[in-house]
Amino acid sequence: MNKPVKHFAPLARALHWLMAVMVIAMLFIGAGMAASISERHEWLLNLHKPVGVTILLLVVVRLIVRITTPTPPLPADLPVVQVLAAKLSHYLLYALMLAMPLIGWAMISAAGDPVMLGSSLRLPSILAPDAHTFAFLRQAHRYLAYLFFLTILTHLAAALFHGWIRRDEVLDSMLRGKSRGGG
Ligand code: HEM
Ligand code: HEM
Repeated sequence: MNKPVKHFAPLARALHWLMAVMVIAMLFIGAGMAASISERHEWLLNLHKPVGVTILLLVVVRLIVRITTPTPPLPADLPVVQVLAAKLSHYLLYALMLAMPLIGWAMISAAGDPVMLGSSLRLPSILAPDAHTFAFLRQAHRYLAYLFFLTILTHLAAALFHGWIRRDEVLDSMLRGKSRGGG
């Protein structure tokens, strides 16, 4: 049997931190868009769409990396409720990283607008134009963004709880590669 690893694979860690920055930026860019009707709105939206679609592509790569590389086990003495909470919140984060860009893309399609990434790259529409579907997806994109924000705050609190209070190996498993004998 293989020895359990202590850290996520380097590519998994790189993707985790790159995407953490991108997703948090997207939540603020989205909130900035919703709060602005000046020409800044257009500028922010032109940033929001390509970054969002990049997140969609990266999460697919990340899921492949996740399935094909070994992951460190959670501490053996972690209470079962916390193990469940960790697993469920990670599934939720992956689901939101997939769903948010897809809903954004579908929402612009349902509005009947061209899905432009920059001035010349146009993505195909993935839904037929329909005002009710657009209104539903617009609300879904907003409420799931709130859920995303809350989940990330909880995730951050949990990571710091592991790093600073429990002082176990969980935070280190995503931070470093080769400390304490590697793995
Ligand atoms: C992880 C990916 C994404 C996140 C976290 C995100 C987040 C947000 C947030 C927080 C808002 C403001 C919601 C509100 O208060 O109404 C928003 C609005 C919006 N998003 Fe996204 N979004 C993502 C991906 C996308 C993608 C890929 C597209 C399109 C290709 C998109 C299109 C839009 C549009 C059209 C709006 C409404 C803009 C407006 O008119 O105010 N989003 N997004
Ligand atoms: C804000 C600072 C963040 C810190 C300190 C942090 C820390 C961590 C740590 C320590 C782990 C390993 C947990 C374990 O082994 O069970 C982890 C896993 C994970 N993080 Fe974060 N994270 C942060 C932000 C984010 C953000 C913004 C997202 C998503 C958008 C995210 C998504 C994930 C996912 C999906 C996993 C599960 C990895 C897997 O098992 O495949 N993280 N994070």
